[in-house]
Amino acid sequence: MATEQQTQDTNAADAASAGNTETLTVTDNRTGKTYELPIEDGTVKGMDLRQIKVSEDDFGLMSYDPAFTNTASCRSSVTYIDGEAGILEHRGYSIEQLCERSTFLEVAYLLIFGELPTGPQLDRWTFDITHHTYVHEDLKQFFEGFRYDAHPMGMLLAGVGALSTFYPDAKQIDDPEERYMSAVRLIAKVPTLAAFSYRHNMGFPYAYPDNDLNFSENFLSMMFKKTEAKHVPKAALSRALDVLFILHADHEQNCSTNAVRGVGSSDVDPYSAVAAGVAALYGPLHGGANEAVLKMLRRIESPDNIPAFLERVKERGEKLMGFGHRVYKNYDPRARIIQQHMDEVFEATEYNPLVEIARELEKRALDDDYFTSRKLYPNVDFYSGIIYEAMEIPANMFTVIFAIPRTAGWVAQWMEMHEDPATKIARPRQIYTGARERDYVAIDDRDGPEKIVGPPARRPKRPRRGA
Ligand code: ACO
Repeated sequence: MATEQQTQDTNAADAASAGNTETLTVTDNRTGKTYELPIEDGTVKGMDLRQIKVSEDDFGLMSYDPAFTNTASCRSSVTYIDGEAGILEHRGYSIEQLCERSTFLEVAYLLIFGELPTGPQLDRWTFDITHHTYVHEDLKQFFEGFRYDAHPMGMLLAGVGALSTFYPDAKQIDDPEERYMSAVRLIAKVPTLAAFSYRHNMGFPYAYPDNDLNFSENFLSMMFKKTEAKHVPKAALSRALDVLFILHADHEQNCSTNAVRGVGSSDVDPYSAVAAGVAALYGPLHGGANEAVLKMLRRIESPDNIPAFLERVKERGEKLMGFGHRVYKNYDPRARIIQQHMDEVFEATEYNPLVEIARELEKRALDDDYFTSRKLYPNVDFYSGIIYEAMEIPANMFTVIFAIPRTAGWVAQWMEMHEDPATKIARPRQIYTGARERDYVAIDDRDGPEKIVGPPARRPKRPRRGA
């Protein structure tokens, strides 16, 4: 009878002689055994490693990949990125064409349903989104409970989570009607919550949605409407914002999308899953770089100071914020598109000296071998903050505004996950590094430092509004 080793070696040899080159032959040097792992779509299955054992009772080999930097967590047909070539496509359409010819609502439909809508489909979709922008008055009361200086992203996070309590039927995630209604409500209401969070911060009364306006105009109206009966923003601003919304709508398996999928894999309602995405986006490593760019440009102060600043970057005393990207090792295609809309925005708004500094900084960095040799090019955040600032949107709202279009991406990815038969509750493994099998020690016999880490010293109270 053939041993296990012989059988495995024979399988490997058979696969090779049969010309099946879509395999990976692995030899475990601990045992000398050889295994044949199928390669599909340029990947090997993590579970195929489990058969590699040193003994019968061994759990089997696992892979270790703390930030999923080389692990595909799903199959997806929503967004394609080729970072080396600087390509971004949604459902196969280039981001350049979508920004030039589409609107954000059309792109949201494309992301969620996989195809560009026909005329009647787009009319219905636009009607449904437009007629679900209001939030329940109780949610407005809920927002009033926040401190006057509450960070708007914290308010949005809580508000999106709270939506699940207003729509308990959303828990029926196997019902396609309920899934559709959740998609519509999320895309429609996140801008309302976002604008309410800003107005709460400013001490302004909330401005209700205006159904006569398109998606981006309505958001700007809810942000900036004062005493006028109707607020129609300048076309250059609403169009630029719509393009920024398209640019931020989805970016495949980034931190927040991974959070939505991970939390959603428990079959929780989509509002709660999307709230997890908002929480992930709140982190400075994900959604905060454009604010850092503005701070950097302010510190540089004048184009004359750029050479000295770049020298400090090269000496590693500074980081050139808004440059470099984990995936794009070429010009971020989104940064190029933003540039095309900047002039229109700046013509429609007040002069901002930071623009000159940014343009000169980019030019000099792109002329410098230090940056090009490291494939450091402007990313989407290099110019987006300046555009938002020109629109008089404060820096603490930048991430909130990022969440508005990304909601469409989160919903699309959540829908795809729901329909994927391979979906299981997300549950990574760990490499346990702690102690084992210790004997319980009675409290009087325990050793330990006298002082434990306690609460921080009390900080002075923040003044109340008007103080
Ligand atoms: N300024 C100066 N040097 C940089 C920068 C930068 N912005 N980014 C990378 N480098 C250097 C690194 O020091 C490294 O140099 P070395 O090889 O001599 O050590 C080299 O370029 C490669 O950098 P990595 O750290 O390997 O690049 P990574 O892919 O890990 O980092 C990141 C990507 C985090 C975005 C980084 O480029 C960065 O911090 N950029 C500034 C922050 C920023 O703009 N973030 C927004 C990203 S877009 C978004 O999230 C929507």
